[in-house]
Amino acid sequence: MKIKFKIRRYNPSEKDGTKPYFQAYTVDVAEGMTVLEALLKIGGEQDPTLSFRKSCRSAICGSCAVSVNGFSRLACETQILPEYKKTGEMTLEPLANHAPVKDLMVDFSPFWNKMAKVQPYLTPKDEDEMPAVTAEDQAVIDRSQKCIMCGSCNAECNALEIDANFIGPAGLAKAWRLAGDVREGKKYRRLEKLSDEHGMWDCVRCVHCTQCCPKDVSPLKAIELLRAAAIKEGITDNHGAKHAVSMANSVKRVGMLDEAAMTFKTLGFLRSLGMIPFGLKMEFHGKMPKPLIFEQIENMDEVRAIYEEIEKGRAGKG
Ligand code: SF4
Ligand code: SF4
Ligand code: FES
Repeated sequence: MKIKFKIRRYNPSEKDGTKPYFQAYTVDVAEGMTVLEALLKIGGEQDPTLSFRKSCRSAICGSCAVSVNGFSRLACETQILPEYKKTGEMTLEPLANHAPVKDLMVDFSPFWNKMAKVQPYLTPKDEDEMPAVTAEDQAVIDRSQKCIMCGSCNAECNALEIDANFIGPAGLAKAWRLAGDVREGKKYRRLEKLSDEHGMWDCVRCVHCTQCCPKDVSPLKAIELLRAAAIKEGITDNHGAKHAVSMANSVKRVGMLDEAAMTFKTLGFLRSLGMIPFGLKMEFHGKMPKPLIFEQIENMDEVRAIYEEIEKGRAGKG
């Protein structure tokens, strides 16, 4: 079957090369053919100037990630026909949230710099404190260990799109791999650093990282585990943790979110005053939530029972 590929081209060394453009190539696609095989065919038979990365061709090295019809995928494991049958198109672009270098190749230096920032190596506990690692301990960090550094999650990340300094899902998944390891000697220090601006609390939980990860790492799960561990360690003097704690307390108290009280508890009195213009605007548009001073939902006993169960479970785990 002949399929038209629209590929975003970019070559800053060409005259007027600062402007990316799309170029079309028609490829005879056989059953089971992957996007990478099509790229190799185009590069080999039609246009040797087309640039893209690849190495293992087996979904192991992480180097071939590109955007396929607007979604980050590994080119070497994405079969063309099922994708084409679903969408009726085949558009290839460089990974989003990464600066293009040439055609489908992007600059990975920010990715590696962020990885370096989370110190991607274990700082072992002293020998006399070193625990024996159980299968349960291993299971907690297991998914984070599967990362092949393809960058797809960072490309899909909404928080990274608005703040280039955000560590990002790949860095945070690696951070959990280490902070969640029972042999790690600097767990507290790690969690404290990751609770700063641009760290774990900047994730907006859009779930894109988990949806696109080709290795089922689930960076969002790693971020949730980092947050829970930070709160458990008492690292709560930051907006993110305060917001999470006040949210949990609000549901425990009245069964729903008391947004007005949460603003005060998250930002403190003085910073909440700065929200007054925003609050007035909300009031004007009829969107200001009422403070839930005496209200609570029906069946509050059921909500409390859920909390009791959770707290019992935590106590059981020590
Ligand atoms: S869930 Fe968080 S880390 Fe993952 S893509 Fe969304 S904002 Fe980024
Ligand atoms: S977490 Fe998944 S998507 Fe992100 S870099 Fe690792 S393997 Fe790729
Ligand atoms: S070429 Fe290695 S993951 Fe695709």
